[in-house]
Amino acid sequence: MLLVHLSNINKIYQTSHDLKFQALKNISLSIDSGEFVAIMGPSGSGKSTLMNILGLLDKPTSGSYKLEGEDVAHLSEKVMAEIRNKKIGFVFQQFNLLNRTSILDNVTLPLIYGGIDNQERITKAKKALDQVGLSDKLENRPNQLSGGQQQRAAIARALVTDPQIILADEPTGNLDTKTGQQIMEIFRKLNNEGKTIILITHEVDIARYAKRTIRVRDGEIK
Ligand SMILES: Nc1ncnc2c1ncn2[C@@H]1O[C@H](COP(=O)(O)OP(=O)(O)O)[C@@H](O)[C@H]1O
Ligand SMILES: [Mg+2]
Repeated sequence: MLLVHLSNINKIYQTSHDLKFQALKNISLSIDSGEFVAIMGPSGSGKSTLMNILGLLDKPTSGSYKLEGEDVAHLSEKVMAEIRNKKIGFVFQQFNLLNRTSILDNVTLPLIYGGIDNQERITKAKKALDQVGLSDKLENRPNQLSGGQQQRAAIARALVTDPQIILADEPTGNLDTKTGQQIMEIFRKLNNEGKTIILITHEVDIARYAKRTIRVRDGEIK
């Protein structure tokens, strides 16, 4: 089933009054539900810009984006946030965990906006942490964990709302090779369980975990 459909997406950043930069040029792309796609390209090629648009964190300057058939390219911030919360989980290179907060509380956080009670939030967070093998670290703070464990906690946080899509932007960029492979095994397992994974990387060895690779260069799909 068609999940993501971009057609002729352009993104122009206006850095100052007379300075513009076109970061995406006529991007058209379809992704089916259940796919595991790697988006590859050198630094500065537009990967994160594309991820921000796919993840409804930013809007394209022009073009159409349909998510499950619904036009989502030009919605209000509020509606974008609602769809994002429901359908998309994010994993970033820098983990982005709250350092003064326990791992369990970090993972329950995305559920606070969902109107579910505290007990159910904790149950769901524990389940997500179990899926990534972190059940013994619930009460630890992020800075008490290794990089790989922190990234696993971030994956649990992305999973806890049960989104259809996981968007991961250079998720192994701060990890050593072996730990990076362990993280990629988690994404592989999640994909086998039916999650759609969109992975951004510039490393060939990491892109190999995906079933399809899309190459971006100078803001264009090549
Ligand atoms: N907010 C912004 N304002 C102006 N230019 C930007 C902004 N964000 C990214 N860019 C530029 O757009 C291009 C693509 O950036 P990015 O999507 O972050 O690339 P990648 O993730 O592939 O390294 C780069 O040339 C970058 O400098
Ligand atoms: Mg980037």
